[in-house]
Amino acid sequence: MWTGIIDAYRAYLPVTDATPVVSLREGNTPLIEAPRLADKIAPGVRLYLKVEGAHPTGSFKDRGMTLAISKAKEAGATTVICASTGNTSASAAAYAAAGGMQAYVLIPEGNIALGKLAQAMAYGATVLQVRGNFDAALTLVRQLTERYPVTLVNSINPYRLEGQKTAAFEICDQLGRAPDYHCLPVGNAGNISAYWQGFGEYHKLGKCTAPKMMGFQAAGAAPMVHGAPVLSPETIATAIRIGNPANWGLAQTAVDESKGGIYAVSDDEIAKAYRMVATLTGVFCEPASAAGVAGVRQLSENGVLKRGDCVVCTLTGNGLKDADFAIRTAAKPVTVPAQLEAVLSVLKF
Ligand code: F0G
Repeated sequence: MWTGIIDAYRAYLPVTDATPVVSLREGNTPLIEAPRLADKIAPGVRLYLKVEGAHPTGSFKDRGMTLAISKAKEAGATTVICASTGNTSASAAAYAAAGGMQAYVLIPEGNIALGKLAQAMAYGATVLQVRGNFDAALTLVRQLTERYPVTLVNSINPYRLEGQKTAAFEICDQLGRAPDYHCLPVGNAGNISAYWQGFGEYHKLGKCTAPKMMGFQAAGAAPMVHGAPVLSPETIATAIRIGNPANWGLAQTAVDESKGGIYAVSDDEIAKAYRMVATLTGVFCEPASAAGVAGVRQLSENGVLKRGDCVVCTLTGNGLKDADFAIRTAAKPVTVPAQLEAVLSVLKF
């Protein structure tokens, strides 16, 4: 039985037998080859999707949260806090509930997907909607954790990245190698840093080569591409609507050391990629997750990707979290009376 990433990768993680493991059996997510998507966006490339939306709370955050919450519990914490564009708060709330702790979450008012808000509320977190963006919420959370006995579980907590690095291990274990390129969205820049940490550790042990890390920010929230913080980040991909990433330095090191890069993709490109992933692979991801797929297309069009290259793209979150976006952007259902002729008038056999 799969019992979660701490058990599976214990030798690589900062835990001991005394660490109380709080787990929802996260990890072991599918790695799916996507030849029809590749034909459309990057012909000749061997494209794989790491489906992190298959996690217990529907995003990759669960990998880091199991470790962050377990270590908080080990240290005797009873309360945890985070700022979030939605997924971190859903995951923190769930793992706090699993560990018998209280979660406080600060989210930007009006700018998180409804499913994520529902999750934090359902798991019993105290939810504060901040009149400001994610960056403002994170500043508040940092100030609170400096002054009060509450554990911060944003990705500046190193245990988060330690847990998230297991996604890189899994990809190498599932694929039997590392990809040539690893593509993923970048928001607060923790995940790309965690992947690089994971690939780096496996590389040192001779278990894989080192992929080029390719990060993609939404064009309206692309501080790392511009080389300066963005004061008012804007994008349809609310999960990565971040203007001043906390892990900027680590992420820059990841792309520099791996000879990769950070690039911008427009909201239009993200929306197109989002539709293509769902219709050509059967995997439903959230808009931010599609930034990495839009990135694969861009790299192919720019001639960076060559025939035969192996590319893994992480789909970071589940599409159901933002059902509103799907309904706003897909073909509308047709309403018909309950009569065969009416149905046939639409279906046209
Ligand atoms: N994709 C999704 C679906 C996310 O929720 C996030 C980040 C990212 C990508 C970017 O990852 O921050 O490690 O660079 N969401 C955070 C949150 C900020 O609060 O849920 P990152």
